[in-house]
Amino acid sequence: DPPTSQMEEVKLLTGSTCRSKGGSLGFKVAVLGAAGGIGQPLAMLLKMNPLVSVLHLYDVVNTPGVTADISHMNTGAVVRGFLGQQQLDSALTGMDLVVIPAGVPRKPGMTRDDLFNINAGIVRTLCEGVAKCCPHAIVNLISNPVNSTVPIAAEVFKKAGTFDPKHLLGVTTLDVVRANTFVAEVLGLDPREVNVPVVGGHAGVTILPLLSQVKPPCSLTSEEISYLTDRIQNGGTEVVEAKAGAGSATLSMAFAAAKFADSCLRGLRGDADVVECSFVASQVTELPFFASKVRLGRNGIEEIYSLGPLSEYERAGLEKAKKELVESIQKGITFIKK
Ligand code: NAD
Ligand code: LMR
Repeated sequence: DPPTSQMEEVKLLTGSTCRSKGGSLGFKVAVLGAAGGIGQPLAMLLKMNPLVSVLHLYDVVNTPGVTADISHMNTGAVVRGFLGQQQLDSALTGMDLVVIPAGVPRKPGMTRDDLFNINAGIVRTLCEGVAKCCPHAIVNLISNPVNSTVPIAAEVFKKAGTFDPKHLLGVTTLDVVRANTFVAEVLGLDPREVNVPVVGGHAGVTILPLLSQVKPPCSLTSEEISYLTDRIQNGGTEVVEAKAGAGSATLSMAFAAAKFADSCLRGLRGDADVVECSFVASQVTELPFFASKVRLGRNGIEEIYSLGPLSEYERAGLEKAKKELVESIQKGITFIKK
């Protein structure tokens, strides 16, 4: 007979959810790009999440070291490492949630769209793997430019006949995390108690914070609104410049991605009222993809909320955001269709 720990692992590989060694119900999660600046702290945070029973760490470099390191944490999740394209299928088989932070980050002076040429191909390959090995998994896409990589993923899944719009989510949580922090700073509040919806997309003017809908309700001056909108839209660039060539946001991003993944898992578990902003296939505007508040549940996205009443400033911002978004979305679609 195999030793007990191996038997438990065999059990973990059957069924879509499973019991971890601690006995609690858990999910199987893969991180693709797990040895990177985001991937490593994200893997650590997921290893700490009691909802995760199996954690697969995939990258084209360095996963043995990252996996050995993280596997020593005495939390419930079983960690396995996968290295290189020939192990992608094994990394993905049986997964409930796939989080993708694989790809190159910006350097000062670059836009997120400047990453398209490299990251589009990476996202295509990884999503082909998802379509083949875990076509029903929820996908959290972090790789930039998100406004194009989410449409790329959708086209790959359509081509494979596995596209489920409820299962594909572009991660824009960092915009909300930043907005909550910056607004709390201006208002003198605890950032954990502030909630700012951020809609549109994830690049420059496509990042549209709805400061008229801040919770708790508050009144900001027009100077504060213009300062906050600009800071939230350029939060990523603020970090890229501070890192001065060493990459972009990794730690705050891992925090945001771990929070978003936890919300997806709580939704899958059946928790009520799990709401996050995310860039998804949407009919909220005339564009095929748009970020807005979505409710997460057992089937992934259960409901997409409309934008609600906008201020005149936000309506103008929305028009600018849509103009850029339409191009970025089309660029992603064309990359697969061409
Ligand atoms: P990084 O260079 O530190 O790490 C990226 C990792 O991806 C590396 O370990 C690399 O080996 C791996 N990788 C490259 N090609 C791969 C492939 N084909 N398969 C699997 N893994 C592969 O970069 P980072 O700082 O972690 O950023 C990763 C991506 O996330 C960038 O595109 C960045 O722009 C984006 N990002 C998005 C957000 C957001 O809010 N959505 C925030 C921050 C960064
Ligand atoms: C961010 O918002 O921090 C990320 O999209 C990374 C970047 O390039 O700014």
